[in-house]
Amino acid sequence: MRTHPPAPSPRRKPWPNKLAKRGKHRPADSIQGSPAFAGVTADFSAQGGGESVRNLLTEAKRALDRHGNPTPSLDARLLLQEAAGVSREMLIADPDLEIAAAAARRFRDHLARRLADEPVSRILGYREFYGRRFKITTDTLDPRPDTETLIEAALAFMPLGEARRIIDLGTGTGAIAVTLLAERPQATAVLTDISPAALAVARENAGLHGVEVRATFSQGSWFSGVSGRFDLILSNPPYIPEAILPTLGPEVRNFDPKTALNGGPDGLNPYREMAAEALRFLAPGGRVIVEIGEGQASEIEGIFSAAGFQPERRWADLAGHVRCLGFAQG
Ligand SMILES: C[S@@+](CC[C@H](N)C(=O)[O-])C[C@H]1O[C@@H](n2cnc3c(N)ncnc32)[C@H](O)[C@@H]1O
Repeated sequence: MRTHPPAPSPRRKPWPNKLAKRGKHRPADSIQGSPAFAGVTADFSAQGGGESVRNLLTEAKRALDRHGNPTPSLDARLLLQEAAGVSREMLIADPDLEIAAAAARRFRDHLARRLADEPVSRILGYREFYGRRFKITTDTLDPRPDTETLIEAALAFMPLGEARRIIDLGTGTGAIAVTLLAERPQATAVLTDISPAALAVARENAGLHGVEVRATFSQGSWFSGVSGRFDLILSNPPYIPEAILPTLGPEVRNFDPKTALNGGPDGLNPYREMAAEALRFLAPGGRVIVEIGEGQASEIEGIFSAAGFQPERRWADLAGHVRCLGFAQG
């Protein structure tokens, strides 16, 4: 988790990826029960309600640019794709494509939210993570691309075909555990979160990706209510020092839940709490892998060492910052 505004993932596919049609049809928003054509109108002049892709995108890009948005073209396009139910390819190939009035209104609503600093992913209601789509809500952290570092680290300890047991502490959307279950069909996982609402989203995402049967959900603080031992204990806990929270950018401060960000006075309380209990839940030969914030590596290694662990490895994210730490039993 980083504190900068989440960037759209390059793996994103258009969603919903619906076909748009040009032809002599009435505006599709008026076609009852026909969501496949929602937002697409073919005959602007006849209906008098449509607006061209070109005009809508130009208007949005200008507004976003004036607002200081660093990716105005991309954001405008993503919001229009969703509002009109058309693919990226169609928007690029056909700037004269006309968008029905209701879809144009939806697009302007989306734009207003973006101009109020709401991240694109929250407006769309999903985030792409490790090539899969995860539902996000106001109760969940918006999973960050940095957390894919933890996925890569964990997968190295999960050989294909072997039945590893994992626990994901503070699962949020379930991005970590659900991804690992999807990548490793023999694995099973316990997903915990203190937030029942976040846990419900994780359950939904597990269902969306067909891994629910191998997942167990446990609401409570870290290991409370959990039994058994795990080959991998994983967590991306809240790690931002409390005093820093008001200084975060509005996209984070105003939209990610505080329980997902606040790591206490120095940002390290969750690591202390987890380290104190983790040994009891670690299977022989198992590993703990945690995501961390910038500059926290040495202190967190100290916390786990004092709790009986051996710091084993550091993993850097794409920006070269130490992002994950791995521990074995000391
Ligand atoms: C930084 S978010 C990570 C969410 C998700 N794992 C991800 O990487 O996108 C931290 C999560 O920990 C949860 N959390 C905070 N305190 C907790 C606690 N004491 N026990 C369990 N979960 C907690 C929050 O509700 C939040 O979902």
